[in-house]
Amino acid sequence: MGISIIGTGSYVPEKIMTNFDLEKIVNTNDEWIRTRTGITERRIAAPEQQVSDLGLEACRKALAMGDTRAEDVDLIVLSSTSPEYTFPSTACALQRKLGNTRGVCFDVQAACSGFIFSLETARSFMIANPALKRVLVVGSEKMSAVVDWTDRDTCVLFGDAASAALLASGDEFEDCFVGCKMGTDGAYLDRLLIPAGGSGMPATFDTVEQHLHFLKMDGQAIFRLAVCKMYECSKELMSEKGIAADAIDWMVPHQANIRIMNAAADRLGVPREKVFANVNLYGNTCAATIGLALDEMLQQNLLKKGQMILLTAVGGGLTWGSTLIRWPF
Ligand code: ACO
Repeated sequence: MGISIIGTGSYVPEKIMTNFDLEKIVNTNDEWIRTRTGITERRIAAPEQQVSDLGLEACRKALAMGDTRAEDVDLIVLSSTSPEYTFPSTACALQRKLGNTRGVCFDVQAACSGFIFSLETARSFMIANPALKRVLVVGSEKMSAVVDWTDRDTCVLFGDAASAALLASGDEFEDCFVGCKMGTDGAYLDRLLIPAGGSGMPATFDTVEQHLHFLKMDGQAIFRLAVCKMYECSKELMSEKGIAADAIDWMVPHQANIRIMNAAADRLGVPREKVFANVNLYGNTCAATIGLALDEMLQQNLLKKGQMILLTAVGGGLTWGSTLIRWPF
């Protein structure tokens, strides 16, 4: 039995917010944002668009590419740093909109490493239970709802988007997953988090007044950790699987900051022209970035059957993960 990706999909909201638009909101400028992060614009969801709505659009495209009906999906694994509710899962909200009653669904919380963690969770479930034939992996984010629009340190970095991958299992499929490595270290929990709103710090007038329901980040610490963990994790995985840097056709890093992405690639020995980047257009769309990158690469005819693809990400928690894929179609 093999497990393979048979479809991808993505969705970005129509509204574009440029760096020049941000100049009117906080004390920043286009030059600072571009040179420090590589970002020139990001997408912002409409007020009525929920994380499940963004995910729905991405899933519909992945299902169409994989020639699969929504009602035939056996499992949905969704990751979001900006979930629709504290509970229940955003995956359940998405399942309802998809009109799927057959599947089991749940959320995986791994912040920006969410897509990689969800892919590996889905793959493991499919190995454990061969009855799971069609599985959706989804990363969906409305970061515009959880960033502090008065905090220039963070609000310039993030954007809204969703992405999906449709996985299939069966004897007719060749395994496309070469390997995966994941890690976490809760010691870094307070470097990147939303402090209030959970049971640890329930909402009060004070928490709202102090903007504690918005994302807080120690940017410089996360920068160093991101480069180090993406490098170490990828290096270990590549050594374990006997894949040298020159065998990597595409490196698809988490799209947080072009400087982080290039630094990790340089340390790995992957040439920068093999690093896919669309952070300039969308900013950091957290759990959606890896799937969004893969879908755009397919649309741009950059992915070819048999290519070796390295996915790697770091997120709040701290979480990190790398996956090697032999591109299947
Ligand atoms: N516009 C203008 N100036 C700014 C802005 C802004 N938007 N933001 C910060 N500055 C200022 C700072 O106040 C500081 O000023 P000072 O020197 O007078 O104190 C100066 O610019 C330099 O700030 P640094 O923090 O040193 O800038 P740095 O080069 O480290 O870049 C950045 C900051 C872009 C945040 C970088 O640290 C970074 O990318 N960190 C990682 C972020 C990241 O990847 N987060 C997501 C992780 S994934 C997840 O799970 C969500």
